[in-house]
Amino acid sequence: MLAYTYKDHGNFELTEKAKPEIQNSKDAIVKITMSSICTSDLHIKHGSVPKAELGITVGHEMVGVVEEVGAGVKNVKIGDRVAVNVETFCGECFFCKNGFVNNCTDKNGGWALGCRIDGGQAEYVRVPYADQGLNKIPDSVSDEQALFTGDILATGFWAAKISEIKETDTVLIIGAGPTGICTLLCTMLKNPKKIIVCEKDEIRRNFIKTHYTSVIVTEPENCLETVSKESDHGGADVVIEAAGSEESFKSAWQAARANAIVTIVALYDKPMILPLPDMYGKNLTFKTGGVDGCDCGEILSLIERGKIDTTPLITHKFPLKDIEKAYEIFENKLENVIKIAIVN
Ligand SMILES: NC(=O)c1ccc[n+]([C@@H]2O[C@H](COP(=O)([O-])OP(=O)(O)OC[C@H]3O[C@@H](n4cnc5c(N)ncnc54)[C@H](O)[C@@H]3O)[C@@H](O)[C@H]2O)c1
Ligand SMILES: [Zn+2]
Ligand SMILES: [Zn+2]
Repeated sequence: MLAYTYKDHGNFELTEKAKPEIQNSKDAIVKITMSSICTSDLHIKHGSVPKAELGITVGHEMVGVVEEVGAGVKNVKIGDRVAVNVETFCGECFFCKNGFVNNCTDKNGGWALGCRIDGGQAEYVRVPYADQGLNKIPDSVSDEQALFTGDILATGFWAAKISEIKETDTVLIIGAGPTGICTLLCTMLKNPKKIIVCEKDEIRRNFIKTHYTSVIVTEPENCLETVSKESDHGGADVVIEAAGSEESFKSAWQAARANAIVTIVALYDKPMILPLPDMYGKNLTFKTGGVDGCDCGEILSLIERGKIDTTPLITHKFPLKDIEKAYEIFENKLENVIKIAIVN
């Protein structure tokens, strides 16, 4: 089968590999119908994911059809259409039982697919702990609608959840890339008083203005001023940072009001500095981390009920054989790309 493979630092290549097989009774094999490219794939390519292993098939956002299941798999059966979760988790350890599945203590716990074990920019994928790693897609939900469930939508859902958003809050989201937009969609479900999105790129600012007319949109230069004008207590009640630059990290704590929650979703290419003397007395709560992707069933149900729609994010589609071209567009942010669906 065809598999897009991490060959070397800076180099992915479409290669021929054997179709994966069941290795454990809790595994399933999924025939992939659609996958996508994530910014984290680019982080692997550029060497900023130390855990990523050379030779693995990349890709951790995908949907497909169950082709084979191990004897211990109970929740899905052959022929089911499923969304694959970016995270592998056993469901039984201390962290899994508390919903912190990103820190599952299994050797493949957390983000393994397309990083430490073969992922989904391919024709087939082996999903360990399939009862946790796969969610049935409701019949009325298309592959396009379900595509981002297991990764960026799970991330947006988690970010909105841990940010403890209230209906009286002004929420600032920094960065309107795919992850920021998914965070926005999940924040909207919480009905805060106001949502402000700060984005550097004009095309992306226009995307937000066109699709989500109730949102206040600002550029980095005017972010602090806009936030202070639009909020009741001198700053945002909640800030979610989904941009990933030094400048956006700084804006995140600067735009927050005293006692606010600042949730860091972005991954950075280098350490960020928290200048504690400068923020002394602001009494901020920082929340950080990798997504705990265990709400995919609920996310699919929200999609089914028309509460979340990520289809406008799919700006391009390519067959797997042309994935190289898709990466070129995604990596260089050409042609106003937001997300690319790789269709098998
Ligand atoms: N925590 C997790 O589990 C998790 C999951 C998925 C993605 N991520 C991370 O989230 C981040 C965002 O992912 P993405 O796919 O949306 O990436 P992206 O690069 O497409 O989006 C980032 C956006 O931020 C904007 N931006 C950059 N600097 C800015 C600034 N100073 N102010 C405002 N906007 C600014 C960019 O123009 C871009 O649109 C990445 O770092 C990614 O690795 C984390
Ligand atoms: Zn991802
Ligand atoms: Zn576990």
